[in-house]
Amino acid sequence: MSGAAEARLAADAVRARLGVCSPAAAIVLGSGLGALADRLTDARRVPYAEIPGFHATQVVGHRGELLCGTLGGREVLLLAGRFHMYEGHSAQAAAFPVRVVHALGARVLFVSNAAGGVRRTFRPGDLMLIADHLNLMFRNPLIGPQQPGEPRFPDMSAPWSPRLAALLEEAARESGVVLQRGVYAGLLGPSYETPAEVRVLERLGADAVGMSTVPEVIVAAALRMEAAGISCITNHAAGITAAPLDHAEVIEVGARAADAFCALVERWVARL
Ligand code: HPA
Repeated sequence: MSGAAEARLAADAVRARLGVCSPAAAIVLGSGLGALADRLTDARRVPYAEIPGFHATQVVGHRGELLCGTLGGREVLLLAGRFHMYEGHSAQAAAFPVRVVHALGARVLFVSNAAGGVRRTFRPGDLMLIADHLNLMFRNPLIGPQQPGEPRFPDMSAPWSPRLAALLEEAARESGVVLQRGVYAGLLGPSYETPAEVRVLERLGADAVGMSTVPEVIVAAALRMEAAGISCITNHAAGITAAPLDHAEVIEVGARAADAFCALVERWVARL
């Protein structure tokens, strides 16, 4: 199980390692975006392997540690590495770190990911504010016993906070970073999409496609956390150009966009 009680145990173990942390936000770092961890000052860290209920991450480009430190003058928790459903994790396990940062006091969640650009005008390296999502994983992390204090049927009319989105757009203007805005479609993976699937996604209203994030934000909504997020568009989705998709390219483009991404997130945290 990866529910509220297990999250409290995990949070106790993290506190024993890191001491007290009063986070203004918890930040999930996506593929290739780990550079934000290097911007933390006074960072304390705990490997995922030492947190009960966490797993070691296996994917290249994902680290696997939880950090507490200062960013933009505010204390934050950083989740460097995530558990993907394509690794065989349940939706509950994929979202478990969100329960843990909530138990550690975080009430604002920021998620980032690498994604393919479905909107034809997107270019590799673009950053997209996630305005809404499509859960095309057909799994839900809230399936199972209702957790204490959580609604059985959480409202999903605004899982992505308009207030936090407005702050991100302000931070982008101030940092001189162009921030697109769009809908993220979460699929299970691990195979990338076919061109026919990408055409369907386009018709469904998706602007970007990836293999993470959705379970985390559903649990954040159930916990009544405010959430915001950015997709780093690392490639044109399949079929939009003739180029085949390649994970190494996803990591490399993410790393190149990392400077703009880090500047933006740091400025945003300072405004919280
Ligand atoms: N599809 C799904 N997930 C991704 C992609 C993609 O094109 N790029 C990065 N993550």
